[in-house]
Amino acid sequence: MIKEITLQELNSELFIREKVDEIKRTVGDGIAINALSGGVDSSVVTMLGHRALGPHLRTIFVENGIMREGEAMQVAGLFKKLGVTVEVVDARKEFFAALKGITNPEEKREAITQTFYREVFGRIVRESGAKFLLQGTILTDVDETIAGIKRQHNVFEQLGIDPQQVFGYRILEPLIQLRKDGVRKIGHALGLPASVFERIPFPGPALSARVIGEVTPERIETVRKATQIVERLLQGTGAFQYLAILHDDRVTGIRDGKRDFGQQIEIRCWESTDARMATPTRLSFDTLELLARDIINEVPGIVSVTYNITPKPPSTIEAV
Ligand code: XMP
Repeated sequence: MIKEITLQELNSELFIREKVDEIKRTVGDGIAINALSGGVDSSVVTMLGHRALGPHLRTIFVENGIMREGEAMQVAGLFKKLGVTVEVVDARKEFFAALKGITNPEEKREAITQTFYREVFGRIVRESGAKFLLQGTILTDVDETIAGIKRQHNVFEQLGIDPQQVFGYRILEPLIQLRKDGVRKIGHALGLPASVFERIPFPGPALSARVIGEVTPERIETVRKATQIVERLLQGTGAFQYLAILHDDRVTGIRDGKRDFGQQIEIRCWESTDARMATPTRLSFDTLELLARDIINEVPGIVSVTYNITPKPPSTIEAV
């Protein structure tokens, strides 16, 4: 049972000191690999790991082909300014090969988990001689996995899986007692820019959590373009999270006076504090119309744009 540290209980300076010491003590004079996606959780872990281990921490951004537009370069550039060198590892082919033909949501998540941990990090750990992987699992990830809602890509121990046995390395999770609001507070205290610690959450399975049906490079490109528009138009709302989902069903539309059996994008925008429960943001109809206009004009093949008005539960934040 993991003991939660609530936002109210959290003493940032003390937490940072304890976690830095713990990482130092555990890793000793070996090296550790750090999985950075650029999201709030992994960015905070990167700064903790960097404080604890300095050059003995190798920070890896896995270019899995399912991230948002320009993400690898953006994340590497930002951390360079903070004194952290990020190695970008190109694993696009491996991820798309693993996802080929899979439509079941949990199988999709499992394919991503195996590719991340067994294939990519397994290889990097073997080649480097590292014994530890640092990652940003938080309490909500564990809760949802145990409750059987979603198998979060980064949860093992609580499912009875020993990473040492199956992947050949130990996983360190310094944020596991926190929820998103606590992680943001630590990010602030660690001196991360607000653009990082206030960033909207983004899931480990990345854009594939937003593609219903098979994940292909083409379908990812469609949802990536829609995501860029949604993030551009909704970043001023102060909402907890906003996203675009590509549906599998097609609908009859009209383009240039002809029938176009096209694709559908669903937009979701959430109010929440810790992602356990969420309600849809009451966006103005003007904003919704702008979203539809830009998506149908800028994303090829889309003939329908909808807005989700269902709270979580019974909805979840991501579609997969
Ligand atoms: P759901 O979709 O379960 O998402 O309501 C709750 C929050 O978690 C994020 N999410 C994930 N984060 N690994 C993660 O690190 C995952 O596998 C994963 N799946 C969902 C989601 O974006 C939301 O903020």
